[in-house]
Amino acid sequence: MLTHERDFARTLARQAGAIMLEHFRTGVAHRSKGDGSPVTAADEAINQLMLESVNRTYPGDGVIGEEGSSPATSSGRIWVCDPIDGTIPFTFGIPTNMFSLALVDDGLPVLGVLYDPYLDRLYEAAQGEGASVNGQPISVSDAPLSGAFIALHGAQFGLLDNAAVMSDAITQGMRVLALGSIVYESALVATGQITACVFGGQSVWDLAAVKVIVEEAGGVVTDLHGEPQRYDGSVTGGLISNRMAHTALADFMRTHVAGLGAG
Ligand code: IPD
Ligand code: CA
Ligand code: CA
Repeated sequence: MLTHERDFARTLARQAGAIMLEHFRTGVAHRSKGDGSPVTAADEAINQLMLESVNRTYPGDGVIGEEGSSPATSSGRIWVCDPIDGTIPFTFGIPTNMFSLALVDDGLPVLGVLYDPYLDRLYEAAQGEGASVNGQPISVSDAPLSGAFIALHGAQFGLLDNAAVMSDAITQGMRVLALGSIVYESALVATGQITACVFGGQSVWDLAAVKVIVEEAGGVVTDLHGEPQRYDGSVTGGLISNRMAHTALADFMRTHVAGLGAG
């Protein structure tokens, strides 16, 4: 269901994609935010468009956007948006970046849309209704973790010692990708192209849409401990997998998350 919200999210995704394409080039102008991460005029324009659109169409709903939010109001629903996930690749003219939008109801993502404007791939899922790309159903792989292609962070930041996780994964025979966008990488899990991803950040806009899209494609998304979590505030990272590999992935991560406290 959520037919109206789905149409709304789809339209917004395509509008965001048009803005991304308009700005996308090697060396696009950007400035550094307080946390050192880059932001471009495209990130800000998409966030603004999303805020105005939600406030106009669903005035009872709240918004959490990476570049600006508006408080939750009467409905208990929050739209969670990363206007561009993968801003670093975006500024290098590398097309591994995506628009991401989720509708979260009482802490649970019930609708998600991702858009890759470079390949014109619109991913969508609603709880209980399956996941698709451009209307075609998608599903995860059934590969085990052993020898798997797995996406990890390629720099030190967030909750994990990423160098240690990567070294351990390679030593154990996994093949590692670091594409600079957890949303892009998670979409590859949803389509069965790779087996799993590990996310060490705490920003809910990186995971909310991924949660419903990967799970509706047959996969699993948990916190770094392998436990469920809410998607209406900070998250304790994420393990994103094809389900088959999830227990092995949580076991593999156990030593790396030991100092983080209970899940
Ligand atoms: C970043 C990307 C990156 C991940 C960082 C995110 P941004 O998002 O998803 O892959 O490693 O945790 O912050 O800044 O490009 O939206
Ligand atoms: Ca992001
Ligand atoms: Ca972003």
